[in-house]
Amino acid sequence: MKVTDLDPSRIPNHIAIILDGNGRWAKKRGLPRTYGHRKGAFNLRDIALLCDKINIKYLTVYCFSTENWKRPKDEVDYLFNQPIKYFKRYRKRIENSNIRIKFIGRRDRFSDEFLNWVNIIEESTSTHKGLVLTIACDYGSYEEITHAVKEIALEVKEGKINPESINEDLIANHLYTADYLPLDLLIRTSGEIRISNFMLWQMAYSELYFTDTYWPDFNEDELCKALDNYAKRDRRFGGLKEAKK
Ligand code: IPE
Ligand code: IPE
Ligand code: MG
Repeated sequence: MKVTDLDPSRIPNHIAIILDGNGRWAKKRGLPRTYGHRKGAFNLRDIALLCDKINIKYLTVYCFSTENWKRPKDEVDYLFNQPIKYFKRYRKRIENSNIRIKFIGRRDRFSDEFLNWVNIIEESTSTHKGLVLTIACDYGSYEEITHAVKEIALEVKEGKINPESINEDLIANHLYTADYLPLDLLIRTSGEIRISNFMLWQMAYSELYFTDTYWPDFNEDELCKALDNYAKRDRRFGGLKEAKK
């Protein structure tokens, strides 16, 4: 299947992907896990370009969780150094593209060099009008919600808001995804049927899609299968089935 086969009227505004299976993809080929991460990074570029082409507004990808620090230092170092190399090499191409890049998650555990690149990439793409590609890095929902609660508590303490005015919108506006459109579709690759601390609040009414394909093999055909599957879902949001036209 190709993106041109999709029904343009049923394209979601916001999709998120838990990019999983890089390590197993490499192991299956007798390669070090880092090869899987490298292939996975190039795949992210290809999938982001396809999402932009079909007018998806937001693509949010889970690249490094607050729990991934538990991995061996060599692997963690690779996961942070590889994007730096990528940004250095493709800076011009990123800046000349239509895609806006943002990061969500903690930033206080980033190296100075990584943080510097995060700022450069975010600033230099901030006026781009195409797809918003959000990279969740040192991201975890528990942390995101805890952070939001602390901010709200502080605003109450400073008298900026009163506790009675705390509602769902206010909470959503204190998450890292404050001004984003609602999450329509969450995809996880690699056969794991779990969420691993990703976008817990945002996915309250999202459609979920799981595939056995490892992330480095998740290509145009796989993306289209997921989007075609989404297009056939009946989203009721607690109401009744849409009357057939
Ligand atoms: C996803 O692939 C990338 C990250 C979590 C950083 P994994 O590294 O989790 O690959 P598997 O799950 O071990 O195959
Ligand atoms: C989830 O993948 C985090 C990312 C994809 C960044 P993991 O591979 O770390 O998840 P678990 O540990 O298998 O749940
Ligand atoms: Mg994994």
